[in-house]
Amino acid sequence: MRDLLLPLLASIALIVVVGWNYLSIPGVQNWSEEELRLITSLSLDALPALPADPSNRVADNPVAAELGHRLYFDTRLSSNGQVACATCHKPELMFTDGLALAVGVDIGPMHTPSLVGLAYSPWFYWDGRKDSQWAQALAPLEAKHEHATDRVQLLHLISSDTVYRDMYENLFGTLSLPATLPESGMPEGDAQQQENWDTLDSETQTEISRFFANLGKAIAAYERKIMPGRTRFDDYVSQVLAESADDTVLNNSEQDGLQLFIGKGQCVTCHNGPLFTNHEFHNTGVLAVGGRMPTMGRYDGVRISQADPFNCLGEFSDASSAQCIELRFARDANDLVGALKTPTLRNISLTAPYMHGGQMTTLTEVVDHYNEAPSSMLSHNEAKPLGLRPVERIQLEDFLMTLSAPLATDQKWLVAPDY
Ligand code: HEC
Ligand code: HEC
Repeated sequence: MRDLLLPLLASIALIVVVGWNYLSIPGVQNWSEEELRLITSLSLDALPALPADPSNRVADNPVAAELGHRLYFDTRLSSNGQVACATCHKPELMFTDGLALAVGVDIGPMHTPSLVGLAYSPWFYWDGRKDSQWAQALAPLEAKHEHATDRVQLLHLISSDTVYRDMYENLFGTLSLPATLPESGMPEGDAQQQENWDTLDSETQTEISRFFANLGKAIAAYERKIMPGRTRFDDYVSQVLAESADDTVLNNSEQDGLQLFIGKGQCVTCHNGPLFTNHEFHNTGVLAVGGRMPTMGRYDGVRISQADPFNCLGEFSDASSAQCIELRFARDANDLVGALKTPTLRNISLTAPYMHGGQMTTLTEVVDHYNEAPSSMLSHNEAKPLGLRPVERIQLEDFLMTLSAPLATDQKWLVAPDY
């Protein structure tokens, strides 16, 4: 009889403990001081004011944002007249496109990330190969699979459109065109573009590149408006801090998911701060996109950013070298092989599919991936297997679903302007 009693009591205890999880009334979560500190640090209320971008002197100029807004939605900035930034970064999808791999003039090798709150990031692209938003904005314009235009074609377009020309000159001074200008041209373009570019003297080349950089600066001024809105999670944090009696904003499962996020799930080691990203690079063992080599990630990205003529230290930047701290002190080490930028998790329920190649379709797949922590094809996976029970995986996912809300951006910026 004794032999039976102990297991019986243990089973009853187990049922009571597990059952309590499901039955308990909302608001029972008693956060420890350390947990409270972490939770508070994730709240939107902890987001500091947007840092200045000294490399872009029009970053916070309203006219620049207007010009950038136009450029952002304008498909005339592409070789086939059909691609704009907004084609891939759609405001209604939190500035993503819902595709695994982005499609512009051609299909590209990577998945489109969200642009929400991105102005806080010191690095851009999955591998951080750009060190400012304005320098980043130049790359898609000339990339063959994105807009597939070039800086000389853009100079023709902007100088011949009176609205663009006025706005541009208002911001950056007179737009002077050389006496003879080929139809197209860029360094490292196709044979024709390269040949055309080489016909220009170096002073003219520099002036055209400066014009091009200025377009990027205007686009960046627009992108700085794209800010995340207050979510149920943020309201919950406020309630907990106010010790209000009925914190029913998050249900039990979501609160348990939050606890896993900052505890056993270890998500908060990388997805931290009010934007749920440490803005750093990590190898998390995500498989390469089918049929492709795994990406070298940040290991290459740091080198590319240092060699970029449009970086913070370059001649088109408005910053002094003392202001280029991120670039000058960028960490470079072998453990950056296969490391990618930690994306924000704000609005994550609206930005599927996930990861740098859109390899995962659902958040369930993402959570399962972290739970298993498979070894990496290149270098090593920094994350370790979590041993989460099925119910915990559901709770974690439930929590992630609480991080979405309409943007805190004026509606006018979220639709195309009247051209
Ligand atoms: C064909 C689709 C497409 C177009 C067009 C496009 N993008 Fe992107 N964008 C992407 C993809 C894909 C990435 C990620 C590429 C990578 O990391 O290698 C990206 C990355 C970015 C990033 C960096 C995001 C981060 O998390 O670091 C910014 C900023 C951005 N794009 C802005 C723009 C702007 C501004 C334009 C217009 C000038 C534009 N994009 C045009 C698909 C597109
Ligand atoms: C070691 C740092 C690290 C840890 C720990 C970590 N992440 Fe991530 N997370 C990343 C990086 C880096 C990516 C992008 C990886 C890629 O695209 O290949 C990412 C991507 C994601 C994405 C997809 C985002 C998108 O827009 O595509 C989600 C969702 C996510 N993580 C959730 C979690 C959750 C939940 C946990 C905890 C179980 C967690 N992460 C733990 C670094 C981390």
